[in-house]
Amino acid sequence: MNRSRYLFSALSFLSALVVVACSDAEKGSSGSSGSGPENGNAEALPCDVDKILSTKCQTCHGASPKFGAPFPLVDRSDLVAPAVSDPNKKVYELVAARARDTARPMPPPPTEPLTAAELAIFDQWIAAGMPAGKDTCVDPGGGGTIDPPTLSCTPDVLLAPSAPYVMPKDVQDQYMCYGVDVEIGQKRHLVGIVPRIDNSTIVHHILLFKADEASPSTPTPCNGGDIMGPLLAVWAPGGKATELPLEAGFPLEGTAHFTIQVHYSNIKGLDGQQDSTGFDVCTTTELRPNDAGIFALGTEDINIPPHGSLDVSCDYQFPRDMGAISVISVMPHMHTLGKHLSSNTVPTDGSEPSNLGLADPWNFDNQIWYDNDTILRGGDTVRTRCAWDNPGNRAVEFGERTQDEMCYNFVMYYPSQELESKVEDLTSPTEDVSCVTTK
Ligand code: HEC
Repeated sequence: MNRSRYLFSALSFLSALVVVACSDAEKGSSGSSGSGPENGNAEALPCDVDKILSTKCQTCHGASPKFGAPFPLVDRSDLVAPAVSDPNKKVYELVAARARDTARPMPPPPTEPLTAAELAIFDQWIAAGMPAGKDTCVDPGGGGTIDPPTLSCTPDVLLAPSAPYVMPKDVQDQYMCYGVDVEIGQKRHLVGIVPRIDNSTIVHHILLFKADEASPSTPTPCNGGDIMGPLLAVWAPGGKATELPLEAGFPLEGTAHFTIQVHYSNIKGLDGQQDSTGFDVCTTTELRPNDAGIFALGTEDINIPPHGSLDVSCDYQFPRDMGAISVISVMPHMHTLGKHLSSNTVPTDGSEPSNLGLADPWNFDNQIWYDNDTILRGGDTVRTRCAWDNPGNRAVEFGERTQDEMCYNFVMYYPSQELESKVEDLTSPTEDVSCVTTK
């Protein structure tokens, strides 16, 4: 099998996180209950503004911020405070900007962005000079909680570290990895995956890989070069559980190796934070009719000139004798210079192309499996296009470090075939993939 050495290596994820050293914006956490304002309270927000923050923001920016959010957004004073990432700006100015930022939106995906009506309420409040609220808000406020997603199956396997990760208070941002080996014996199907979040104050997002070999069971800093195997599940706050359709399951046999990667964020420098986050998994001996698989489309032939851009499209034609395959979901993957990734069929009969993934603009902070129900048939051609801009004065090539670049579109599908990597490979060119650079 011509499997790319890097293909399923540690996917670099969010490591360019903007770090906001932020202790003095902390004030809102004392004295603010997050509940509706009282008459004459200068800290109170008008109820329409309060409602937006409590429903869309305080799941993370609550009185005790969660999932790596740097400060509370509970009281008026939280919004008029100077922003720590840019002391020349006030927090409300950053809120207005990030709520409209398509590349790094707040709230972050998969949570829905603010609606035009919500943005207008916020803009009008700023234009009016950010008056304090006068009424007691009916809305309970205080921020909803992000309910952990649920599965329709009953988990029978817990993937957790053998000891908790203890986060040093002077580490702001850290990717930790650990392995779990599960004795499966006779073939089983893995059919559902849901995260089990332990310490939501510091967990930013988590990934589950099926691995080729065992790795340490205690959390150790992830090594970007580790080969991890196919990425089975990704979770960020607000995300869903992963459930395979009834027609398919991921085959497991003998000893199954898994690697879990947890991204931690402790921007506020809290002391003594510990975490044992992992995944609950459903496996079954009642085998589904099909094995599920994952393959990748794209290219590793990447070289983006300094102060320049690159736009590459690669075509792959499925073997003519291949039976139909059903796509379950797709996950585009690039690094921080990516601008666009799209993947679609190229019909020859004049019919509409089917979308197999679109990330435009590409958002490095939003790497999830998107549901997709395309049927692919033998002889079909799929075109995967990646585009980058490189503002730096050094050429950027393919590689696994965050400062390198990638162009993969992962496709989860059934029934499993010998497809694995349909990526233009630098070292051993794949005959059935052909790429053109359009700019
Ligand atoms: C799922 C958790 C989550 C939700 C929901 C969320 N945020 Fe954030 N927010 C974060 C994290 C994590 C950061 C720090 C990383 C970053 O800047 O992207 C952040 C950073 C920010 C910043 C940048 C601060 C700075 O100094 O640069 C602003 C402004 C912000 N959030 C506003 C909002 C607003 C307004 C909402 C609701 C409309 C919201 N956020 C909803 C997690 C969240």
